[in-house]
Amino acid sequence: MNRSRRFEILDGRDINRETFVEPWAEAGLIVADSPHDPQPSLRIEGGRVVKMDGRRREEFDSIDTFIADHALDLDAAAEAMATSSLEIARMLADISVPRARVLRLAAGCTPAMLVKIVSHMSVLEMMNGLAKMRVRRTPANQAHVTNKREHPALLAADAAEAARRGFAEVETTVGVARFAPFNALAILVGTQTGRGGVLTQCSVEESLGLRLAMKGLTTYAETLSVYGTERAFVDGDDTPWSKAFLASAYASRGVKVRFTSGTGSEALMGHAEGCSMLYLEARCLLVTRGAGSQGVQNGSISCIALPEALPGGVRVVLAENLLASMLGLEVASGNDALASHSAIRKSAKLMLQFIPGTDLIFSGYSAIPKGDNLFGGGNFDAEDFDDYSVLQRDMQIDGGTRSIAEEEALEIRERAARAIQAVYEELGLPPISDEEVAAAVVAHASADMPARDVVADLAAADSFMAGEETVLAAVAALQRRGFSETAANILELGRQRVAGDYLQPSAIFDRDFKVQSGVNDPNDYTGPGTGYRVGGARWEEIQNIRQQKSPRDFIAAQLGEPSGKLVELGPARAGTQTEVILAVGPAFGRALTKTIGELEHEEVLAAILTGVAEEGLTARILRVSHSSDCAEIGHVGAQLSGSGISVGLQSRGTTVIHKRGLARLSNLELFPQSPSLTLETYRAIGRNAARYAKGERPTPVPVQVDNWARLRLIVKTALLHRRETEEVRDLPPFELAFDWEPDV
Ligand code: 5AD
Ligand code: CA
Repeated sequence: MNRSRRFEILDGRDINRETFVEPWAEAGLIVADSPHDPQPSLRIEGGRVVKMDGRRREEFDSIDTFIADHALDLDAAAEAMATSSLEIARMLADISVPRARVLRLAAGCTPAMLVKIVSHMSVLEMMNGLAKMRVRRTPANQAHVTNKREHPALLAADAAEAARRGFAEVETTVGVARFAPFNALAILVGTQTGRGGVLTQCSVEESLGLRLAMKGLTTYAETLSVYGTERAFVDGDDTPWSKAFLASAYASRGVKVRFTSGTGSEALMGHAEGCSMLYLEARCLLVTRGAGSQGVQNGSISCIALPEALPGGVRVVLAENLLASMLGLEVASGNDALASHSAIRKSAKLMLQFIPGTDLIFSGYSAIPKGDNLFGGGNFDAEDFDDYSVLQRDMQIDGGTRSIAEEEALEIRERAARAIQAVYEELGLPPISDEEVAAAVVAHASADMPARDVVADLAAADSFMAGEETVLAAVAALQRRGFSETAANILELGRQRVAGDYLQPSAIFDRDFKVQSGVNDPNDYTGPGTGYRVGGARWEEIQNIRQQKSPRDFIAAQLGEPSGKLVELGPARAGTQTEVILAVGPAFGRALTKTIGELEHEEVLAAILTGVAEEGLTARILRVSHSSDCAEIGHVGAQLSGSGISVGLQSRGTTVIHKRGLARLSNLELFPQSPSLTLETYRAIGRNAARYAKGERPTPVPVQVDNWARLRLIVKTALLHRRETEEVRDLPPFELAFDWEPDV
């Protein structure tokens, strides 16, 4: 077969590094509507579910039993199951139906009914539903902070920076499990140095996770995984009851709990039982609710590439976020795992959660470079910080972060690295040297860090876990060493665990260390003018990205002092000779002295005049005062030119070769890409103008086309044009004398 160059290029694109397959229901490789998914039904007798989604109680597996007995609100079930799924879908999309009304009905829906409701909805309608149904009015964001070297100073510095960037939650994990207490400690000290009240967790095996929490090293636990089939649960050595027990254990110690589930895990584990990913996820979400978790991390999470390999996969991931919010669960929506090689696709996928807003838009924005992410990636990472800030600014959307200046980052990173250094020293842990602190302050990734003695660190971690010491030892150490703010913040987190207010649904701490939850900040969206709005100080902050400049001094480089070589003679008269008229704009060589490409106006004039002279002609220069428009400048010049040929020149450098008799907006040659014009080009323009004047037909002057020039320079272009337009006067054209030395 012949290879098409077009298809060869397409084959090399990032999108074609991904896998796309047809659905295969038997293998669970289907995102929705598997022929094996049950139809919704519910029968209640004597206050007990006897039949659900086509299955009689005797046929229930343990998940069905748990859902029937603990997840369904039987008071709401009769009404909910009697309402058509289409009607509930319409309520979700209808801004005037309040959240509470949908919540009540959803509480009585079986898994199959939940799936059927969202099956009616487009992505747009689901986004509207999510904006209404999410628990907390104010959206927030969560970050991942890990590194391959498990370096404590780098973890602390990155956590502090993440806190400053606005993340409400920061989680870490381990490469080697035994590092867990120190990694948890490092991000705790780091975040509380950056901003008091950022919640932290360390994702590890569950009993270790619980012990970290009990030592006060973490304040939330998120990776309590649940699955939609019994056999997947069994592989995880769990049941819905054991998960409920674990959740209670955390909650009893004042630790915020969020379960994890998501489309694709059952198919990945080989236990999808022929069901669609969305149906199995609906079961997970009901288990989560039944177990009493206030929220869920969902949206496929680590399995995202699997639904994405299938048609409708990204839509269904949004559907599962929506289902969670309908059940009143706080949603930390995916976007944590790498979703695509393609920057277009990864960003498009993000929009489904970013635009409506979820309680935590990422269940882990990689606040470190992907390569250091021990969770295995990060759909957006530290190298995307500026892109993300611009997205917030472009759409006036609160994505839960802020742009910070380099100085702020350096300062807070240093303070956090020094704080963890002090804690290590005071607790007799393997020391963190000044050199390591200095490296952590400026590091991008762990490759920028000196290596540590891993064996010594692990031995210290083991004895820390074996001993009685808790986070209070770190608080005392910080206090002794003058890190009193960090110490006070960690102590306050401990106090909050006793108070327990942040166990309310969707609770985080705001920047004043106040609980902000579904109770005191409930989502009250019912259309325009309601719900969360980006305004006031927060909008100022979102606008004020670190790259934003004042436009007022943007054209400073083009402003200069006129040299006096260009002098006014008098009113321009019509010529009779074979000449070229060089007509310049009102600001040329006076209010403005350089082109947008920063060529001196006088050098541009000299280049054009040289070109004309090379062809043995002369040129007269005249200034057009009544217009700043390039076509008009050239047109006026042509009327007064003895040959009928003119070169029209705006101050920013845009140039036209015009001929008397042509319509104003027509021309012989146009050079709209002023930033690409060089003195050589201007000289060639002069030559060609002279040739036209002599009646020849020259080859048009070739120009470089820079596709990006407009994108880069449009603000400057607008401001230069504005400055020139300010010089417009209702005066006839007049002739200029220019004192120059031909350079032939
Ligand atoms: N379903 C259930 N648990 C998941 N996790 C990731 N994706 C899913 C999913 N789709 C869990 C992993 C790990 C943590 C990162 O989240 O088991 O513990
Ligand atoms: Ca997470």
